[in-house]
Amino acid sequence: MRIKRVMTILNDLGRVELDRGNQHRAEYESIVSNEIREKCRDLIYDNETLKKIMNIFLDNIKRGLAKATHPDATVKCFPTYVQDLPDGTETGKFLALDLGGTNFRVLLIELSGEHFEMKSKIFAIPQHIMLGSGEQLFDHIAECLAIFVKEEQVQHETLPLGFTFSFPLAQKGLTVGILERWTKGFNCSNVVGNDVVQMLNEAIERRGDVHIDVMAVLNDSTGTLMSCAWLNKNCRIGIIIGTGNNGCYVEKQENAELFDDNDMGSGKVIINLEMGAFGDDGCLDFARTEYDKEVDKHSINPGKQIQEKMISGMYMGELVRLALEKFTKEGLLFGGKGSDLLYERGRFYTKYVSEIESDEPGLFTNQKEILEELGLKHASEQDYVNVRFICECVSRRAAHLASAAITTLLHKMDEKKVTVGIDGSVYRYHPHFKNLMMEKIRELCDPSIEFDLMLSEDGSGRGAALVAAVAARQKKKAQQAT
Ligand code: BGC
Repeated sequence: MRIKRVMTILNDLGRVELDRGNQHRAEYESIVSNEIREKCRDLIYDNETLKKIMNIFLDNIKRGLAKATHPDATVKCFPTYVQDLPDGTETGKFLALDLGGTNFRVLLIELSGEHFEMKSKIFAIPQHIMLGSGEQLFDHIAECLAIFVKEEQVQHETLPLGFTFSFPLAQKGLTVGILERWTKGFNCSNVVGNDVVQMLNEAIERRGDVHIDVMAVLNDSTGTLMSCAWLNKNCRIGIIIGTGNNGCYVEKQENAELFDDNDMGSGKVIINLEMGAFGDDGCLDFARTEYDKEVDKHSINPGKQIQEKMISGMYMGELVRLALEKFTKEGLLFGGKGSDLLYERGRFYTKYVSEIESDEPGLFTNQKEILEELGLKHASEQDYVNVRFICECVSRRAAHLASAAITTLLHKMDEKKVTVGIDGSVYRYHPHFKNLMMEKIRELCDPSIEFDLMLSEDGSGRGAALVAAVAARQKKKAQQAT
């Protein structure tokens, strides 16, 4: 009964009762087993810890932006060469490619004033290609593009294309991006150090049956910012909390020392932070848990993308699983009796975390199904409470770290009213993520700054088309001027 009553309170907490959140939280925590609560302490960051992280993050951003410190900086702060946000006058047909999220997609987008029409197709990237050669990868991308343009019967037109390539790129211009390193599940040979636009163009030439004009290569966070800015002119930050984690924001050109293009008149440039790499120099070690270290050790890129591994969907389920495994082996969960699946790396999916936290008060409907699937039918009511608590600790910490990063940007930008565009599967599907972030940013942020979080409608696809459209508009303007 007590568990049911407290669970009702807990669900309220996730929805609206932000002010009374802490009081409810304390009540909920009281029904979690003492040992589990104690052992999860290191997964909970108080505001002092978050403020410390914010200070270090700000310092990292400054180091990324400055020419002298950039080479050794971990948060790279790459200028994107996207200087202008869409103004609603963009028109025409555009193609877009979206590589680096959960799926690979090809899109055809038609813009006219406020109007937006989009057709898209998802293609699989088999694992042998994700880990194969660069040439194979780009041949596969070109093949998917060719199939799509033929299906849409635009193979005879030379359409402008925006390429969303969601990996760290050192950009030398809007259409030149040198891959710094692979992240997430990708590790193709012979791409690091090369221009991915050139590799795409070469693959298309090798086929000879499609014609495109690559107008821009961009990060998914930039696409997110652009797609939100198209609808809301206060949007100045784009954030991804999905398979990976990253963010971008609008910076003054004078602060972006690496930006060396002609000023197109805005005085601004979008900076791709590559903040997933925050912590790669050990500066977050004071806050990392044994689960973080274990996840990193078994990843395909140990020592890299440290903040990403604490926040993003590629790792969240595994963080929870490691805690569950440990506590079970210590006899604190499931009567000390685990299962082969519980002990299998990668087998506790991130979507389970969202599903478990979506359960109605006191019912544990989704959780029962998940635990059964994992061979843990013998779980008790107390186990359900404990498992949910562990999921919450991990997802709350992710939301709080993302909030600390966003607040740092809000303070740095010094604008009075900023909308933050956000995309990514974790943010989209976790039932309480947005509320957790709203609550935490409100606590951490200077109260004179007004902010809002806006879910992006397909930032990677729509954003790529918009960047291509803005670039096409600028090209035309430049041609008219000469
Ligand atoms: C990549 C970023 C990307 C983010 C989200 C990270 O692993 O380095 O470029 O924006 O994932 O997709």
